[in-house]
Amino acid sequence: MSSDTMKAGSKTGSLQRYSGIQIALHWSIALIIISMVPVGLVMTRLDPSNLTNLLYELHKSFGLIVFGLAVIRIGARFALGAPALEPDMPRWQVMAARVSHGALYLLIILVPLTGWAATSACCAPVNLFWTIPLTLPIGGGFDTAGPIFLLHNIFTMAMVALIFVHAAAALYHHYSMKDDTLRKMMPGERR
Ligand code: HEM
Ligand code: HEM
Repeated sequence: MSSDTMKAGSKTGSLQRYSGIQIALHWSIALIIISMVPVGLVMTRLDPSNLTNLLYELHKSFGLIVFGLAVIRIGARFALGAPALEPDMPRWQVMAARVSHGALYLLIILVPLTGWAATSACCAPVNLFWTIPLTLPIGGGFDTAGPIFLLHNIFTMAMVALIFVHAAAALYHHYSMKDDTLRKMMPGERR
């Protein structure tokens, strides 16, 4: 087993799980994203009102939090590695897991980053929960923001599609294959 596949699981008993920090980051990012997508879809379709403004502010702030957590998560992945994939997985599944996990890491950066960049260009200031100023130095107004918002939507839809496949694969491993794939990402379980 390579050091990359060993480090995170080495302290967790017979079942090699992701480290506690990786598990906490995985599920908190997942929870925020799963809530953020419907908020994004609803807020852009509501008439202007105090509620709409509130949803926009919450969307932007929680999106910025996803960005921050994603940066920490990728750092943790480099520092701590990941447990090995199940030993009897066919080669195509190993490839699919690697590619889709890599794409998910990329998208949890690109989705909030494009939202952040576009909002900074058209609609400054960007504040974290109405207080901490985090506007990026990007000018150009709506002309610049338009194409970046388009990317924000495309990346979001790609991420949502991938999350469906990803969650389905995790549940398939757990209930059909009955292997340890899902348990590795769950806190407090031992084999
Ligand atoms: C994980 C993070 C994020 C997710 C999943 C997400 C998702 C979405 C979705 C689904 C929409 C609706 C697209 C549409 O149907 O028009 C949207 C729109 C929007 N997002 Fe995000 N977003 C995230 C982060 C951010 C961040 C960090 C910002 C800004 C700081 C942001 C700013 C916006 C804005 C201003 C819109 C409205 C765009 C428009 O009016 O066309 N988003 N987002
Ligand atoms: C909603 C947003 C989600 C995102 C962005 C996401 C992202 C990721 C990423 C990037 C990895 C790779 C970890 C690594 O190798 O370092 C991963 C692993 C994993 N995810 Fe998710 N995930 C999400 C939701 C879910 C859901 C809903 C489930 C379960 C139903 C799930 C189950 C798992 C499992 C079991 C693993 C470990 C796979 C393995 O090591 O073989 N994830 N996730």
